[in-house]
Amino acid sequence: MSVVVTGVAGFIGSHLAARLLTQGEDVVGVDCLTDYYDVSLKGSNLRSLLDHPRFRFEHVDLAQDELRPLLADASCVYHLAAQPGVRNSWGDAFGSYVRNNIVATQRLLEAMRGSKARIVFASSSSVYGDAERYPTPEDSATQPVSPYGVTKLCSEQLVMAYRRSAGLDARCVRYFTVYGPRQRPDMAFSRFIAAAVHGDAVEVYGDGEQVRDFTFVADAVEATIRAGSVADPGDAIFNVGGGSKVTVRGVLATLGEILGRRIDIRELPPQPGDVRETAADLRRAEATLGWHPTVSLDEGLRAQVAATTSACG
Ligand code: NAD
Ligand code: UGA
Repeated sequence: MSVVVTGVAGFIGSHLAARLLTQGEDVVGVDCLTDYYDVSLKGSNLRSLLDHPRFRFEHVDLAQDELRPLLADASCVYHLAAQPGVRNSWGDAFGSYVRNNIVATQRLLEAMRGSKARIVFASSSSVYGDAERYPTPEDSATQPVSPYGVTKLCSEQLVMAYRRSAGLDARCVRYFTVYGPRQRPDMAFSRFIAAAVHGDAVEVYGDGEQVRDFTFVADAVEATIRAGSVADPGDAIFNVGGGSKVTVRGVLATLGEILGRRIDIRELPPQPGDVRETAADLRRAEATLGWHPTVSLDEGLRAQVAATTSACG
């Protein structure tokens, strides 16, 4: 038997695959290497995986290619492939969100119909929008404020519909802003570190007082694997937050201390779709998965800075 990781060339998927290999799994990694960001970064995310004897890469587009052969020996499918990015999901770009989030997920679910394999779907805190309460439990209202959030909610609802009506053994993890080595270049910490190490001003959207429950990637990976392993997942949807609730300006203060330099800020207008606050209620993940985050923001940010500066030589 093998496990399948979709979106394996991406930020979180590449970490997840590496961790599954260290646990002794045979991993089939699926990705079509979209050009949302520099494809050479996806190549380097894949490099160490490709050398592993128990790893096989399949260049497959979930939105159009034949999927059943991929699933023949699968015991679990970790479905992370997606078009991510909250702020870029307006306007003409929306077509790629529909294609790579909704259509791709529906095709994968259809290919898994009748299969005994589990699926763990990578959902998002963006399904809550500006949440009705903080910290936000999983049964809170889902009221996304970005087109991206709408497509993640739709994909999650598809997964749950196949669970209810087709008997698929499905679980969803709602990640809260994940960071760490290999973070996507469009995300805040990547952009802040790149600017700060070059002595450039960092660009902050709005007043910088927006709060995020930043989650270190190794913690997100651990929660994902536990969600795929637990025998009885109960309601099957789990918040995955880092317990590091901090403002964007707070992050920049910590980054300045780590780098030992003053960070100049250039304030830009607030971005539509950017929620004011995220904060995960982790009681369900703790009770059902026995999981809680272990990496502090200071520790995780240091790891991301170290990985970035060593990659830059
Ligand atoms: P990423 O862009 O680095 O990885 C996603 C990968 O999916 C990419 O390599 C892309 O090429 C691949 N992909 C896209 N469409 C595909 C298709 N049709 N067929 C095959 N492969 C396809 O993104 P990430 O930050 O690693 O996010 C992984 C998952 O976690 C996504 O589902 C995202 O929505 C979700 N998520 C991420 C965060 C975060 O903070 N990074 C937070 C919440 C949810
Ligand atoms: C992230 C991911 O990009 C989404 O894919 C994911 O679904 C979402 O987390 C989630 O938790 O569900 P976001 O919170 O916007 O979305 O993550 P960042 O790009 O790291 O932004 C964090 C904050 O920093 C936002 O308020 C953003 O406006 C701000 N920011 C970002 C800046 O001020 N400047 C920048 O250059 C980039």
